[in-house]
Amino acid sequence: MYFPSLDNVQALRDETPGCRNVIHFNNAGAALMPQPVIDVVKQHIDLEAAIGGYEAAAKSADQYQNTYASIARLINCKSEEVGLVVNATRAWDMAFYSFNFERGDKILTAMSEYVSNYLAFLQVARRTGAEVIPVPNDDSGQLSPDELERLIDDRVKLIAVTHVPTNGGLVNPASEIGAVARNHNIPFLLDACQSAGQIPLDVEDIGCDILTATGRKYLRGPRGTGFLYVRQKLIPQLEPPFIDLRSADWTSSGSYSWATTARRFETWENNVAGMIGLGVAVDYAMAIGLDRIEDRVVVLANELRTRLTEIDGITVHDLGKKKCGIVSLTVDGFSSDDVKEHLAARRINVTVSAPDSTLLDASNRNLPPIVRASVHYYNTVEEIETLCSCLADLVN
Ligand SMILES: Cc1ncc(COP(=O)(O)O)c(C=O)c1O
Repeated sequence: MYFPSLDNVQALRDETPGCRNVIHFNNAGAALMPQPVIDVVKQHIDLEAAIGGYEAAAKSADQYQNTYASIARLINCKSEEVGLVVNATRAWDMAFYSFNFERGDKILTAMSEYVSNYLAFLQVARRTGAEVIPVPNDDSGQLSPDELERLIDDRVKLIAVTHVPTNGGLVNPASEIGAVARNHNIPFLLDACQSAGQIPLDVEDIGCDILTATGRKYLRGPRGTGFLYVRQKLIPQLEPPFIDLRSADWTSSGSYSWATTARRFETWENNVAGMIGLGVAVDYAMAIGLDRIEDRVVVLANELRTRLTEIDGITVHDLGKKKCGIVSLTVDGFSSDDVKEHLAARRINVTVSAPDSTLLDASNRNLPPIVRASVHYYNTVEEIETLCSCLADLVN
């Protein structure tokens, strides 16, 4: 039987069709899917075409269930604590909007919080009078657990923090945040959208009560897939903002009861092929090993940062004590959109992070739109050299 392994990066590249066409440094946007994921998604769509969507779902019920079990293994929780939804934002929303905030309640968050999460904070603050408080960073630029501790009082209802921000290589200290949350018995919601698949995640070690993620980024799953974990003891206390026949049972003409598992955060209709693909993507990542993935991603990203800092006219912007696979940069004299286009013309994929994707952090650091080059384990040092020489051509 074949096991994907980082002992043979070329074999991993060989079963990643996209590697034949592009140099992909947009893994924090959507990573390239490996062949086993592509195959299983296509097979399910073929089955839907051949026998009907509902009938195909019934035939593939075990594979669908496998996705819950795989995610549970990935993050060390129970299958019943996993809900499958269409993306990380909805996963996060379904949990966040289940809290019953009142005037004076406090939500503690990070300076580098993601735009959609912050918009939800602001909406809830406007509606209820709850207060949103970003926890200051330490000198390295990561959220300061000491400052977090200092801000705790009995009005803090939720700590909600992004693990890896959308705009750079920073990794917020999730376990230290979790320790503060646990000490004070405050629910902790971790947005692991950009860390899932590149950093080992263990909800017990981290001490989070809710974790949300997407399939298409470092997990290499299909688009339109996401999941949330909610700790079993919290599930009965959370009433989701929406209800349907998946999340609840209509028990009599005048009553209903919520599902007692994380199913209460799901919707009935779902991307069955995508979710089956997500399960295979998670199995694939675990077969390689999350520790090994993180080691290689960090080595490659550090290699890229070092080489970039050697090029006059390029500034690397990543913060934090611990850094991950995302490398953020600007090029003197060129807009980040121009840099992206210059690279795209050479079949190198990067993306641009606009300041309003992490407004507090970008305003604080006076950041313009920045180029985000995100490496995955299937990238190579040769690809990094090519990227750097294309950037050097631009500035020279
Ligand atoms: C930190 C963070 N959280 C959440 C999201 C949203 O994920 P999705 O697009 O799957 O809803 C992103 C997407 O870039 C992100 O960077």
